[in-house]
Amino acid sequence: MNLLIATGNRHKFREISAILKSTRLVMISLKEWGDVPEVVEDGATFEANAIKKAVTLARFSGLWTLADDSGLEVDALGGEPGVWSARYAGEPSNDAANNDKLLRKMMGVVDRRARFRCVIAVSDPNGVARTVSGTCEGTLRNQLRGEGGFGYDPLFVPCGHDLTFAEIPADIKNGLSHRAVALARAVQEWGGLLASGPGRWPE
Ligand code: IMP
Repeated sequence: MNLLIATGNRHKFREISAILKSTRLVMISLKEWGDVPEVVEDGATFEANAIKKAVTLARFSGLWTLADDSGLEVDALGGEPGVWSARYAGEPSNDAANNDKLLRKMMGVVDRRARFRCVIAVSDPNGVARTVSGTCEGTLRNQLRGEGGFGYDPLFVPCGHDLTFAEIPADIKNGLSHRAVALARAVQEWGGLLASGPGRWPE
């Protein structure tokens, strides 16, 4: 079954495609659609934003659509940047500026615990959506390390590892990330259903 992946972030698209590659789903990129409606991510939660993206693009395209809303929560900052992760240092979204701001705020802070959180929403073409979520616990380094990944990856060391997400190979990140955990749940809950290409969610 075709599944539209509602993200303009090529890193996310690559990760989602890699994680879902063993399913029979055919991933369609937003790029194949040309002009698509812009979705303002003004929800107070990852869940609200993920649903808004999935529902808007599903209604627009007439396809089953998957959206990811995700971000970093830092314990010592009361959960910041959270839903503001992409725009932490202002608009337009800039990874280097966001990391810079985070490093400044965390200067001298001893408690380095943080987690990535991901909510995956899947919407049927009528705009009825369901969600699953996943987290990945870790700590923050006090300087940027590594060239891989995107966003806050050069600062984030997942639990049980010594290297940042930007230093470890992509297939390792894709096996343990917040996105991997959420997508594994999505496949567990809806994989069989989606493979059979239903018109809408069953009652
Ligand atoms: P969204 O597109 O509104 O979901 O924004 C997600 C933002 O959270 C990204 O721009 C990154 O700053 C951050 N983020 C989410 N997932 C990851 C990840 O896997 N690695 C690094 N940063 C991430």
